[in-house]
Amino acid sequence: MSRKLIAGNWKMNGSLAANEALLKGVLGGLNAPACDIAVCVPSAYLAQCQTLLAGSPVALGAQDVSQHEAGAFTGEISTAMLKEFGVRYAIVGHSERRQYHGETDAVVAAKAQRALAGGVTPIVCVGETLAEREAGKTEEVVKRQLAAVIHLNGHCISEIVVAYEPVWAIGTGKTATPEQAQAVHAVLRAQLKAATPQSDRIAILYGGSMNAANAAQLLAQPDIDGGLIGGAALKAPDFLTIIAAAH
Ligand code: PGA
Repeated sequence: MSRKLIAGNWKMNGSLAANEALLKGVLGGLNAPACDIAVCVPSAYLAQCQTLLAGSPVALGAQDVSQHEAGAFTGEISTAMLKEFGVRYAIVGHSERRQYHGETDAVVAAKAQRALAGGVTPIVCVGETLAEREAGKTEEVVKRQLAAVIHLNGHCISEIVVAYEPVWAIGTGKTATPEQAQAVHAVLRAQLKAATPQSDRIAILYGGSMNAANAAQLLAQPDIDGGLIGGAALKAPDFLTIIAAAH
């Protein structure tokens, strides 16, 4: 991996005024960043954020994308629509979508494939629940979730980004230790290596209560290529500290 990627996931947070203040704070504090940066914003704010980010080093991302191309799918947003707003990344398979919207591995894979076909890079999330970790099933779960995406035919998996997000660490303040995260990242790295000769182009991000205080240690692990940041991405100084730790 060359440059690390720090991606904010705003989830269902923000307002026109808050977004403007946040992005102005982030852009104003950036000083020749050594990493790639993105913010994944609510769809309603894509147009606003596209304007605010124009000409900046911060890429625009969405939090989901439809598995369908177009048509009678009320409430869904297509890759082509995202492209019209300059969207570069779309999160797919976030645990909140798997949990609250019943997204299966097959749906997540179809979304990733649709995004890739339309020129949007999917950030594919995988991660075990606390019960799965305690049952010793972490490796099995994350490998199954990743396999669904990388074994689809007809698309270039070296264009995906993977995010390991242990469900028990998301929004809980309970971060995985650098060693726990590294162990799972190494498993995912080996799986990607076996799947494509271009696996070193695939960034594996860590997500789950990454913050200004713990980012440097996590990002120092050999197989952690960046972060997917929820809560801490909503505060410009914290997000900037994480960006500065990614080199
Ligand atoms: P968190 O969220 O940083 O607030 O734990 C991360 C995520 O869900 O992507």
